[in-house]
Amino acid sequence: MAKGRFITFEGIDGAGKSTQVEVIHQTIVARGIEVVRTREPGGTPLSEKIRKLLLTQSMEPSTETLLFFASRAEHIAKVIKPSVERGAWVLSDRFTDATYAYQVGGRGFPASKVEALEAWTQEGFGPDLTVLFDIDPEVAARRVAKARNLDRFEKESLDFFTRVRNAYLERARQNPDRFLIIDSMRDKETVSDELRRIFSTWD
Ligand code: TYD
Repeated sequence: MAKGRFITFEGIDGAGKSTQVEVIHQTIVARGIEVVRTREPGGTPLSEKIRKLLLTQSMEPSTETLLFFASRAEHIAKVIKPSVERGAWVLSDRFTDATYAYQVGGRGFPASKVEALEAWTQEGFGPDLTVLFDIDPEVAARRVAKARNLDRFEKESLDFFTRVRNAYLERARQNPDRFLIIDSMRDKETVSDELRRIFSTWD
């Protein structure tokens, strides 16, 4: 059987990622492809426990970064790699680019330490495609405030999210072949239409 694909979805909180990942999921399933939908932090029973800690407890930046990678190591070994090897397409709501954006960009954690953890736990493994939902942090904050109770990350300042957004855009500039940037300032239906068009043929 042919190898599957690993696609990740990124963006600051409030970019409309969840809605649009659902649209992409349906579009790929309609092609008769097996899709495994997952998320970070999370994606395995143990990683979901780590997720709960990350979203509710305050902790040292190094503890936070290590927990994201601990959760990720489980996720890669138990879910992502076996699924891709079986021929499925894995869709993950966030992955390592989020650590560069939130912990390095947002919190100022050293990039060199994240690079070391990435090399150690992933050994060159990573996404085939990363879709970045890009949005002005002020617009995103208004959307998030309306929609839900805020978790530990969503309570961060506008400055924090501006740094996170810029770090994502910088990751995209450094990896132009892997990244697809989606302008999420447009209305929902326009974005969904564009994604249906792209993912009805993307390979
Ligand atoms: P997410 O599941 O997108 O939140 P929600 O369920 O509220 O949509 O992600 C949880 C939070 O974790 C999000 O604010 C971003 C943060 N995060 C990091 O800071 N670093 C990481 O490596 C990952 C994967 C997520």
